[in-house]
Amino acid sequence: MRTQHLGMVLLALASAGEAQLNALAKRAGKLYFGSATDNGELSDTAYTNILKSEFGSTTPGNGQKWQYTEPNRGQFSFSNGDVVANFAATNNLILRCHTLVWHSQLPSWVSSGSWTQAQLTSIIETHIANVVAHYKGKCYAWDVVNEALNEDGSWRDSVFSRVFGGGNFIPVAFKAAAAADPAAKLYYNDYNIEATGAKQAAAANIVKLVKSSGARIDGVGMQAHLIVGQMPSAASLAATMNSYLSAGATEVAYTELDIRHSSLPASSAALKQQGDDYARITQACLALKACVGITIWDYTDKYSWIPGVFPGQGAALLWDDNLQKKPAYTSVSSVLAAAATGGTNPPPVSSSTTLITSATSTTTGGGTTQPTGCTAKKYDQCGGEGWMGCTVCASGSTCKVSNQWYSQCL
Ligand code: G3I
Repeated sequence: MRTQHLGMVLLALASAGEAQLNALAKRAGKLYFGSATDNGELSDTAYTNILKSEFGSTTPGNGQKWQYTEPNRGQFSFSNGDVVANFAATNNLILRCHTLVWHSQLPSWVSSGSWTQAQLTSIIETHIANVVAHYKGKCYAWDVVNEALNEDGSWRDSVFSRVFGGGNFIPVAFKAAAAADPAAKLYYNDYNIEATGAKQAAAANIVKLVKSSGARIDGVGMQAHLIVGQMPSAASLAATMNSYLSAGATEVAYTELDIRHSSLPASSAALKQQGDDYARITQACLALKACVGITIWDYTDKYSWIPGVFPGQGAALLWDDNLQKKPAYTSVSSVLAAAATGGTNPPPVSSSTTLITSATSTTTGGGTTQPTGCTAKKYDQCGGEGWMGCTVCASGSTCKVSNQWYSQCL
């Protein structure tokens, strides 16, 4: 029965033209599966076609940051940020808004000023009142404060922590954001807070700090800029999310997920490992109702921020430079599909795969016969229970069983 159901769900999604990853995530109980994007990329039609067809949420990679929205004191500009916001509205995508108070991409008039606490409070309040008001009603969530912590859990050095002598600028920011858009979910967002440790404990304390001030904080965004083969355990991922809920958050999300190879080119074993690692994060979010969604930090290696910051590393996303799906895409979609059909999550793609020696042609429970004479491209699906697509792989690749639900041309 479950097999028939899976096949029917995938068929229904395809014929309804629904965004695949997003539709599967929604059927599995999540609010969205998203991808960040940026202004320059939106003129790439092949790119936007996939963005629109696979994802249900987006986050502007740059345009809503302080350097663009208030480049000079009191001079607000939304032309940059509006590009992605308008794209989201036109294409019915949820918008995660990013970000209001961050030490980086902060104009020098803020970072270099000699402010009193009262002056900087007013600057933060004015910035947030204007920016959040402009996007009022358009943002599912705001990353109100971004990356306020050092790795050891102490306050990151910034104009904000210096002037306030610690983290008391954070409640100021959350109060201002709540006043400007009561409906937007308000998040603290940071990296390396996906696993238990000093920084995760400090992030949980930020939730408590904001709440004890009487301000509203709804969520913690775990950026999840991760490295292939260096993943937190499933237990650590779960304990981390629960720590934020215990501290008073009502939801959590993976907000900037990418899992980079530390050296390139990636071997096929490394690509499989990357699939396993993506599957682990996906399963962690699926396992917790309060984890509302996953956003990857752009979906293609073509537009990833990583090579610019970590030369020699990268290939961190689900699609490659040529907009072709990678094994990790299949891992994520298979985990989502299993959850969407009420099945248990399949085990992540393992490095020991079973070779299918000949393509089979079966009849599904729905009575649809698999096509004959078609060829699946390398990395595309070629089998699995309920699969009704091509089962023969393009030359140079072989159909291998990843799990009960998915076989893939590798
Ligand atoms: O807009 C200018 C352009 O005019 C100029 O010609 C060009 C020359 O380098 O630079 C352009 O600005 C770049 C900007 O992205 C827009 O493309 C900046 O140099 C570049 O530093 C900036 O990088 C962004 C980075 O944040 C800055 O810290 C990345 O695109 C963006 O993906 C990245 O996103 C951050 C999140 O906001 C917070 N978490 C970490 C994440 C990755 O670093």
